[in-house]
Amino acid sequence: MKKLNLFFTALLAAIPFFGYSQQKASLISVDVARQGVEIPEGLWGIFYEEINRAGDGGLFPEMIYNMGFEEKNIPATTTFEDGNIVAPAKPNYGNSQVRNFRFRFNADEPAEGWTLELNGASNAEMKVVTDNPLHKANPHSLEINLANNKGGVSLINKGFEGISLEKGEPYDFFFYLRADKSFKGKVTASLIGAAGNVITTNEFKVSKKGEWIKYSALITAPVTDNQAKLELSFTSAGKVWLDYVSLMPKNTFMNHGLRKDIAQTLASMKPKFIRWPGGCIVEGFTMENRVNWKETIGERISRPGQFDIWGYHNTYNFGYHEFLQYCEDIGAVGMFVCNAGLSCSVRNGDYYEMGEMGTIVQDALDAIEYALGDVSTKWGAERARNGHPKPFPLKYVEIGNENGGPLYGERYNLIYKALDEKYPQITYINTNGLEENLPDYYDADKIEMIDPHYYNNPEFFFSNTTLYDNVARGKWDVYIGEYACNSNVGTGTLYGALSEAAFMTGIERNSDLVKIASYAPLLENVNYRQWPTNLIRFKNDAVFGRSSYYVQKMFSDNRPDVNLATTLDWVAPEEKIAGQVGFDAMAFSPNSQVMFKDFTVSAGTGVLYKSDFPTDTANWTIESGDWQVIDNAYTLKPAEMRPPGQGGGQRRFRWGNPMILEEKQVEDCAVSVSVKRDSVFNGINIRFGVTDENNYYQLSIGGTRGRGGFGGPGGPGDRQNQPTTFTASVVRVSNGGMIRVGNIGQPFEFGLDKWHDVKLTVNGKQIGCSIDGVIIGEIEYKPLQKQYAIAGYDKAAKEVVIKVVNGESTPFATSFNLQNVSNVNPAGKITTLFSASGQDDNSFEEPTKVSPGEADYTGFKPAFDMTFEPYSFTILRIKAE
Ligand code: AHR
Repeated sequence: MKKLNLFFTALLAAIPFFGYSQQKASLISVDVARQGVEIPEGLWGIFYEEINRAGDGGLFPEMIYNMGFEEKNIPATTTFEDGNIVAPAKPNYGNSQVRNFRFRFNADEPAEGWTLELNGASNAEMKVVTDNPLHKANPHSLEINLANNKGGVSLINKGFEGISLEKGEPYDFFFYLRADKSFKGKVTASLIGAAGNVITTNEFKVSKKGEWIKYSALITAPVTDNQAKLELSFTSAGKVWLDYVSLMPKNTFMNHGLRKDIAQTLASMKPKFIRWPGGCIVEGFTMENRVNWKETIGERISRPGQFDIWGYHNTYNFGYHEFLQYCEDIGAVGMFVCNAGLSCSVRNGDYYEMGEMGTIVQDALDAIEYALGDVSTKWGAERARNGHPKPFPLKYVEIGNENGGPLYGERYNLIYKALDEKYPQITYINTNGLEENLPDYYDADKIEMIDPHYYNNPEFFFSNTTLYDNVARGKWDVYIGEYACNSNVGTGTLYGALSEAAFMTGIERNSDLVKIASYAPLLENVNYRQWPTNLIRFKNDAVFGRSSYYVQKMFSDNRPDVNLATTLDWVAPEEKIAGQVGFDAMAFSPNSQVMFKDFTVSAGTGVLYKSDFPTDTANWTIESGDWQVIDNAYTLKPAEMRPPGQGGGQRRFRWGNPMILEEKQVEDCAVSVSVKRDSVFNGINIRFGVTDENNYYQLSIGGTRGRGGFGGPGGPGDRQNQPTTFTASVVRVSNGGMIRVGNIGQPFEFGLDKWHDVKLTVNGKQIGCSIDGVIIGEIEYKPLQKQYAIAGYDKAAKEVVIKVVNGESTPFATSFNLQNVSNVNPAGKITTLFSASGQDDNSFEEPTKVSPGEADYTGFKPAFDMTFEPYSFTILRIKAE
C-alpha cells in the first residue's frame, strides 16, 4: 500500500471551486457504548462468471485460443440459420409466448484463432472436421491437408491477443496429432517472439500413423515476450489432424492450476465466499445450454464446454472442482448456483415441466454430495478420484439465477425441499429480489435468503444507503448477489466506486439482514469486454483492480465485529446554481421537429440577452445534434434513419442535443423561450447552471413514449390519440449522472404545432416554471447527499473503525465526537482512496493511480476535526475502549 503524506489539514478546505463555497463542518458522532448489529465475518464475497473471457486466457491460464477447435460448435438443440443460432420454438416461462430466440453466430471461421502460413511453393488447406474425433466430448479437430510442402507450412496461434512468456518460467506444452500414412515428416513447435525471432523450438517425431498421439514438452522461456505466438510447422506433405493444443504456465497459484497474478488479486480481497458458475450462464439461453456441473469436472479433455450466452465457447476449464479448490485455498466458502428448471427469461426462457424436474433436482443433490459427501458416496468418491478426498467448504446453494414468477416458485419449492431435507447445513438462496410480501409471493413455501441485484447509476447508490434500514427482519436474510455502479458517466470511475462505497455503508449497518454481498461482474479480459463495467481488468500479462476493487478490498480489510451507533449531522455543501444557460431537446419521433426562438435571459432588473436567430448564432455552441435555423427558430430534427437491419428503418433516438449560450454566466435569473413541437415524443429542456457538459441543471417538459410503438395507437404516427397534458420536472446532472430533483406543480396543457412560452426562474435554490404566462409552481433544489460515515468496533484490535465517503468535488469538513469512550490513543491509522478527479480510474499504464494510501496519525482524541479529500473514501482506525 502507498504511504501517504498527511494531508488532513484545514488547508484543504480552502480550495476554491466554481459554484461552491466552503462547506461548514458536519458532525459525526460515534457512541462507542452503543453497539449495533454484529457484522458477519462472511459478509464480503466474490461473484465469478465466465463472461468477458474471465476463464480461459484469464483466471485459468490456458494460453492457446480455441485449443480444441470447438469455438464454433453450436449448442445442442439450436439450429443455424442466416448467421444466427436459433433456439427451439418453446414457450417462455415468463409469459408463455414463443420468442424464437436467435443469437448471432459467426460460423465462417470455425478455426477461429488459427491461421495457416504457406511458404514458397507450398500448398495446404485446413478445415474443422468431426470424423474420427479425439474425444467424444470434444468432437471437432483440425484437418490439415498438406498437398505440397515444398517451402514449409506452419499453423499459427496468437493466443489471447498474444502469448505471454516470462524469462526463466517453465510452461507445459502438449498437443494431439493423428497423421495418415502419407505424412512422413516431423512436427516442429516453436514459440515466435514479437519481432519474428524464434524463442524456443521443439521437434516431435510423428509415430503410430492413423492414431491420435499426445506429444508434449516442458518449455522454459529464455526471454520475456508478451506478444509471442505458437507456430506448428510440418516438414512433409500428407494429411494430419490436430486437436487439443495447450500451453500453460507450470507455476500456478498454490500449484492448483490458476493464473498466479489474477488468483492473487482476487485472494487479496480476502473474499469470504465465492459464487460459481454465475450469472446468466446458469440458466443458459435454452435449457440445454445451461451449465451442467458434471460436465465441468475430471480430465479437461472430457469436458465438452459450450458456446454460452456470452457469445463464445466456454471450455469449463475453470470447473466445479477448480472452483471448490480455489475456495479452500483462499479460505473462502463456496456458493454453488444450480439451474431451477428454467432457462433465461430474457433469452429463450424455455423450461422443464414439473414432471421433467428429476434430473435438475438430482444434479443439485449430486453437486452438494461432490463437495461434502465422504468418499463412500458416489460423488464424494469422484471428488477423491479427482485428487481431493477431503470434503470442500460448500456453504451456500442458490436455486436458479434471476428467476421469478409462479413457475419459479413451484420449481424452487421442489428443489429446496429435496436439498434441505438431505443437507440442512447449507443456506439456500431464492433468486427473488426485495419483495415485502415474500415468501407468500409466488407460493414459495420457505425462503431462507433472497438475492436482489442492483446495477444502476451513482445517484441510485448515493441515495439508497438506507434501503435496508426499515425492511422487516425475521422473514428471510438477504444476499445482494450482484451490484455495481455501471450506468451512465459514473461507470468505471472513482465517482461510481464512491457511490458503491456509500451503498456498502448501508449494507454494513444492516448486516443482521444483508448477510452476504458480492460485486459483479468480477473479471474482464480487456480484449474481450462484453459488460460495461467489471471489477478487475486484465490482459495476457497484467492485471489491475479498478477503483471499485479497492473499495471492496477496503471494506473487507476493515470489517469490524460490530456496528457502533453513528450519526452524521450533515451540512450540505454550499452549492450555488450558477453557470451558463441553454436549451436542449430529445428528438425521438420520425418526421418531426422541435423549434426554439426568442430565448431571453434576465437577471436583476434587466434583460441580459435576447436571441435573434439566425443573426446571432455565433453566440451559441452546438454540443450535439443537427440544429438548423428555420423560420427564425433553432430547429432540431431526429437523426437520420438507422442502417437497415439495426432498428427497422426507424429514426434514431437522439438524447440530449444541447445548445449553450456562450459567455453568459448567471445565478439568480429568469430564462424564457418560445417552443413548438409537433410530436409528444420529443422532450424539451432548458439547461441552467451549466458548468460543463457533465454538470448542469435542467427543466424538462418530457416526451411520452405513447402506448403503441411507432405505428400503433398512441404512437407517433397516431396524431389523434396523442396526449397533450404534461408535467414540468427538474433534474440535476452531476458528474454526468442524472439526479432527479422532482416535479413542479400540476400538469398543464402543452399542445402540438403551436408556440408555447416556457419560463424558468431561479432564485437561490427555488426553481420555478411558467407556461404561457401562467405560473405552474416552484420546487426547492435539495442536493443529493454524497457524504456518509459509519463506524464499528474491532474487538481483537480494540479499535474504533470509521469509514467516511466523500463523493463531492469539494473537501468534506467534519468534527468527530467519540462518546462513552475512554483511553483514546492519539496514534492511529488512516487509509484513504482518492484522486484528483472523480472521473479517474486505474489502467495498465497506471494500475494503482486510484488505490489506497496509508498514514500514521497522532491527533486522535475524543473530539477532533478532520477534513477529507474531494472524491475520497477513508478509513480511520482509532485505538479506544
Ligand atoms: O453480471 C452479469 C449478469 O448480470 C449476470 O450474468 C446476470 O445474473 C445479471 O443479469
